[in-house]
This record gives sequence, structure tokens and C-alpha cells, in this order.
Amino acid sequence: MTDDVLIVHGGTPLQGQIRVRGAKNLVSKAMVAALLGESPSRLFDVPRIRDVEVVSGLLELHGVKVTAGVEDGELVMDPTNVESASTDEINVHAGSSRIPILFCGPLLHRLGHAFIPDLGGCHIGPRPIDFHIRALREFGAVVDKTPEGMHLSAPNGLHGAKLELPYPSVGATEQVLLTAVRAEGVTELRNAAIEPEIMDLICILQKMGAIITVHTDRVIEIQGVPRLYGYEHKPIPDRIEAASWAAAALATRGEIEVVGARQADMMTFLNVFRSIGGELKITDDRVAREGVSGAEGGIKFWHPGGELKAVALETDVHPGFMTDWQQPLVVALTQARGISIMHETVYEQRLGYTEALNQMGATIQVYRDCLGGTPCRFGRRNFMHSAVIAGPSKLHAADLRIPDLRAGFAHLIAALAAEGTSRVYGVDLIKRGYEDFEAKLAALGAHVERP
Ligand code: EPZ
Repeated sequence: MTDDVLIVHGGTPLQGQIRVRGAKNLVSKAMVAALLGESPSRLFDVPRIRDVEVVSGLLELHGVKVTAGVEDGELVMDPTNVESASTDEINVHAGSSRIPILFCGPLLHRLGHAFIPDLGGCHIGPRPIDFHIRALREFGAVVDKTPEGMHLSAPNGLHGAKLELPYPSVGATEQVLLTAVRAEGVTELRNAAIEPEIMDLICILQKMGAIITVHTDRVIEIQGVPRLYGYEHKPIPDRIEAASWAAAALATRGEIEVVGARQADMMTFLNVFRSIGGELKITDDRVAREGVSGAEGGIKFWHPGGELKAVALETDVHPGFMTDWQQPLVVALTQARGISIMHETVYEQRLGYTEALNQMGATIQVYRDCLGGTPCRFGRRNFMHSAVIAGPSKLHAADLRIPDLRAGFAHLIAALAAEGTSRVYGVDLIKRGYEDFEAKLAALGAHVERP
């Protein structure tokens, strides 16, 4: 237990430079896509995070050779000898991540059958997989849900389908893409998710030989092809991690340059950051401007002094304000003067972490009502999905237990912003999505230690 605790001596502004690598929520999917190719794929800038280990483990179980390439962060995946794995072996990964659900299509194409363990991932609501299963059945898959996991087969092969998602789910869109690319015929997906990570996955699939058209109004058309090949790809940077550090800069009144962060993927966040009084500078044109060969751009975020301003916000699917940006930003909003509102419309139970912030001195009240312009799927359904944050509040240290990945990082930011010494339990969960976060904290001058 003790090695899962971080002692945080808060109250010091974080200052310095850190780098983000490929987006967790693209890299893991790109690794699954490699299974569809008939030749090796190379993925660059892969972060050392737990989700990558889980997907590597599952790929290896299915005969994919996963090795480190010559470059730091390069991963080579050779799927030439894909083979079946036993349910017992696969079940070792039960509960560790949500990515295994995306193995359905690729395994059905490669082996004609698939077994998917019980999923894991963060506890931020029920997180059903009904859209996935409905889509797979439309493609012709036979899906058998058992207590040990999900067995799938495709006795008549997989065929293109006309599909419409009830909600633009990221995972279900990826499921459709990864299945349709090699299904026979054309697939039309309506109400698809169009997050930058989805667009990057489409780029990867196109490199592999897929034919995918992204129409306006969330319609994606996929023309199935009989075979796909390996790819070489540098993923988009992690815009969730970048925003987390930005929020940390604001909450601790510091200045953090996030090298690798990309403006285009974060415009909505940057607008909000600026509206509440944060300052930022895009440095991604530094090479052209200063002629510094090999220099990598990013975004510098800082607290300019004075008071932050309250804001009313709603999380939404892209291009809206990401649900994963919500938790770190709320910590910064505890420092803003006035009443801020956060209406969470993507997940029904993603505000539980605010209790810990209240223990630390914040004044946050959560409501069942939709406190935003748009009524969402959770209104009048007893989900505490809107938060009202009154600030500024002086945060003080506390003992905290991390509930999930993003809320965990928010707890950490709160501990760093608070006066005094906090103990943050369950901190290893953060490794699921934030590479080397302790080294990065040290680089930013944070006073943290393991007991
Ligand atoms: C992805 O989850 C991300 N995870 C999440 O990040 C992210 O918060 C989310 O997309 C939204 O951007 C990964 O990419 C691994 P969804 P995903 O399907 O694909 C409902 C993190 O911390 N839904 O877009 O699982 C669902 O319950 C994680 O990095 C159904 O009802 O999210 C939710 O309310 C947390 N039925 C909404 O749709 C389904 O079959 C959006 O979920 C599927 C989803």
C-alpha cells in the first residue's frame, strides 16, 4: 500500500517545461489497427503507460510480435503470424482497460472468431457497450455474452452495413472503423464521433490501404478492401495530458510549457483557458521563426497574476469541451472569482471527485439538473451531472484517494495548489494515462516524495 502513496508538499507554483507524447486514446487504438495489416507496423512517440502494456500483452497473446524500435518511443508490431489465444490467457487482462472491446473486428477478420474479456477502464458511469454489439451484429457477427466474457464469430463473414449511432460514441465509431475497413462492401456510419483521435485513426487506416470518406454532418463512409498492410505513423499528441498540465499551471499560479502540444486539437480548451484569465503562447512555429533546427514547438501556459474569472461550461463531443478536460479545469476554477458552472453531458457520474475538493476547502455543489444551455441525456434522471463552483477558495492539504484517471490527476493538482502536506493514495492509477508523471512533477519544481 505504501508504494501507492505520493506525499505532496503543496503551495509551490509549477514552473518549467515538460513534453507530451502520442495521445493515449489514439496510440492504444493504433496498436489494435496493426492487427489488421499483413505486414509490420511502426508507431512512433508511444508513451510508456499502462494502457500500452495491456494492449501489447493482448497483441502478443494473439501472435503479434511487439518490439521496441530503434527510436525512443518507437514500437514495431508484426502481425504476420496471428493466432488464437485461450480464454484463460486473455482473461488475465480482464478489467484492466476498455481497449479489448476494439479487438472484435480485427480478430474476426484475422481468425474468424474472438474472445473479449470483461472490460475495465475508469469508473465514471455504467459505460455500456450496446452500440458496439449492435454494430457488430449488423456486420454479421454472432455475439455471445457469457459471464466470463464475450465470444464472437462470423460464420458468413463480415459485410458492410448502414449504421447510425444513438450518440457519437468514440469507442463505437472506432469499432465500426476497425471492422468496416475489411468487411465486404460499403459501410455508412451516421452520427459518428469526429474527435481528433478518430481522424488520426482514419489516417492510419488509410496508410494501411483502407478507403474511408469523412462527409459533413458526422457521416463516415468506408469501402471495404480485402487486405491491409502495415503503417508507419507518428500519433497526434496527447491533448488531455496537455490540458491537465495547463490547468496545473493555472491552479498553482505557475508557468508550464507543454512541448509537443498542438493548438489545432485544443482550440476549445485554449479559448476557455484564456476566458478564465490564463495566458498562453503557441510556440509551435518556433522552428520557422527562429530557425532553430530540431526544436519542437508546444504551448506555454501561465497564470498572469491577479484573479481568475468564473465561467459557465458544458462538456460535449468534439468540437466541444472534452469531458476529460473537465476535472483538472474545475480545480483551477476553485481559484476563480465568482460562480462557475460545469455541466457534464458525456458521462453521467463524472463529478464525484468534487467531494475531495470540498474537503480541501473548495465550495462546489453538484446538481441533478442540466445547468447548461442544452438539456442533455442525463437531465431528470437522477444523475448528479452539473457542478456549481464558488470561488476563490483557499485550498488546504488533505489525505486523498484517487477514484479514476482524470479525477486522480485533478486531485493531484489540488494537492499541489493547496497549502500544506497532502497524502495522495492510489496514485499509481495515474500511470495508466500520464507517462513519467513523477519525473515531470520534479522537472516542474513540485515538492513530492514517496514515503
Ligand atoms: C473514450 O471513451 C475515451 N477512452 C475516454 O477517455 C473519453 O472520455 C471518451 O472517449 C469521450 O471522449 C478511450 O479512448 C480509451 P464513448 P469511450 O464511447 O470510447 C455512452 C480517459 O480517461 N455509450 O465516446 O468509452 C457512454 O456511456 C477516458 O482517457 C453508450 O451508451 O467513450 C458515454 O456516456 C475516460 N453505449 C458516451 O456514450 C456504448 O455502447 C460516450 O462514450 C458506448 C458508449
